[in-house]
Amino acid sequence: MSADLIGLFYGSSTCYTEMTAEKIQQALGNRVVLHNVAEDDVQQMEGYRFLIVGIPTWDYGELQEDWENVWDELSDLDLSNSLVACFGQGDQIGYPQWYQDALGYLHDKLALAGAKMVGYTTTSGHTFEESQGLTDDSSQFLGLALDDENQFELSEARLSNWLKQLEHEFSS
Ligand SMILES: Cc1cc2nc3c(=O)[nH]c(=O)nc-3n(C[C@H](O)[C@H](O)[C@H](O)COP(=O)(O)O)c2cc1C
Repeated sequence: MSADLIGLFYGSSTCYTEMTAEKIQQALGNRVVLHNVAEDDVQQMEGYRFLIVGIPTWDYGELQEDWENVWDELSDLDLSNSLVACFGQGDQIGYPQWYQDALGYLHDKLALAGAKMVGYTTTSGHTFEESQGLTDDSSQFLGLALDDENQFELSEARLSNWLKQLEHEFSS
């Protein structure tokens, strides 16, 4: 697998995360290889130096079900040669106490697999009560947080700024 390719692994129950994944592919072109974890083996993550992973939070702070199904397999991965950026979909108005929790769980899981984690973003502009998707000092999300449900109009700029950020972080 060429070192230049970006593996984008995502799970999505109602297509929001999948649509974001497709937008990322449209923006970065055929450098991005899409993998829906409902179908593709997560072992393939080891073949990429650059990874983007997408997960929505479901059911009061739970993992999206396709990620949940492969969760134990993630423990067996060696990602020590990979740079990984996470993005999440969530709903800050409907679930303010569990906003973007799964983003944090996936981030921590892949960090434990040895990955260097990049792509953190500001919490500014999001209103919620609690989240497991934050850095220890609560100043940033552990990836890109999107809320297409309530802030769809902000998502395009958030995504394009993040992809610019990744251009730097993936090359350093
Ligand atoms: C039943 C239900 C439970 C949800 N629970 C949460 C939650 O705990 N935290 C959160 O941030 N978003 C929550 N959401 C919002 C989803 O993350 C959001 O709708 C997301 O866009 C779904 O992504 P998907 O279509 O890729 O599965 C929930 C949505 C539904 C319908």
